[in-house]
Amino acid sequence: MPRSVTVRAPGKVNLQLSVGPRRDDGYHPLATVFQAVELYETVTATPTLGGDVTVSVRAQPTLAFDPASVPLDERNLAVRAARAVADAYGIEDGVRLEIVKGVPVAGGMAGGSADAAAAVVACAEAWEVGATRGELHDLCASLGSDVPFSLHGHTAVGVGRGDELSPAMTHGELHWVMCTQRAGLSTPAVFAEFDRAVEQEGVTVADPVLSQALMTALMAGDPHAVGEALVNDLQAPAIALMPRLRETLDSALDADALAAIVSGSGPTVAALARSRQHALAIAAHVTAVGTADAVLCVSGPAAGATVLAP
Ligand code: C5P
Repeated sequence: MPRSVTVRAPGKVNLQLSVGPRRDDGYHPLATVFQAVELYETVTATPTLGGDVTVSVRAQPTLAFDPASVPLDERNLAVRAARAVADAYGIEDGVRLEIVKGVPVAGGMAGGSADAAAAVVACAEAWEVGATRGELHDLCASLGSDVPFSLHGHTAVGVGRGDELSPAMTHGELHWVMCTQRAGLSTPAVFAEFDRAVEQEGVTVADPVLSQALMTALMAGDPHAVGEALVNDLQAPAIALMPRLRETLDSALDADALAAIVSGSGPTVAALARSRQHALAIAAHVTAVGTADAVLCVSGPAAGATVLAP
């Protein structure tokens, strides 16, 4: 009887996303602070005979989900993750992957990256390859810039492409309202719009540095100060590609959010609330004015990729 292993991995919001000038390899140097939030992807890996990697995807009922938005071939990051584990450890068996999505697709919350992190851990466990934490991290980094963070979770500083992580000290919980859009934004397209604004509109761009104000606010557990320190250099390019996001941000601020910011490369808008109660009030207002297609109240930080008991 093959052993099935189920792993859940969290989505994220970037509390800081400072972007430097495009490098020769096409990537941008980042100074970012990730926070994992309690929205999860789960991936179940069941070993099979023969070398095939197959994948199925469904979503939790809370999520507006179009199955056509997730590819089931080699473009799927979980499929690539399984192949990367098999290649690294000389595994000739195949695997059946079953994904249950809880993170919005193409939303700037790293749902695909969470699938990849969960699939790496699930395959490594199911095939019993005996991988170290460092080896899991390197496999994740080979799959995408945000994948290692989903493995580690909690709150972390990311530099380089965003994959060189160190833990951030935090105190207490933050309450977020994630305002999602049915349409997604492509991360490369948002970075390309960032480059276009730099080249054509003279937007200046410096080497990214970590915000000390944010680190101090996180350590103090002060949501007001965290709100004041939130920064995202991809917000303007995301709004340029999806102007409706300006209204989404304004509607969250109208409901007295401490701050509202585009999450990662968007289009999800993250509104910071004073409490869980306040988050529900912001969610009700954004829903009533109709500036998002769905809203989710979540808290952070959340744990990284975790094997669930069978
Ligand atoms: O690493 P990942 O595959 O997730 O990145 C997706 C795309 O996002 C890259 O192809 C690149 O266009 C952009 N990106 C970037 N700089 C980063 C991370 C991502 O330009 N640090």
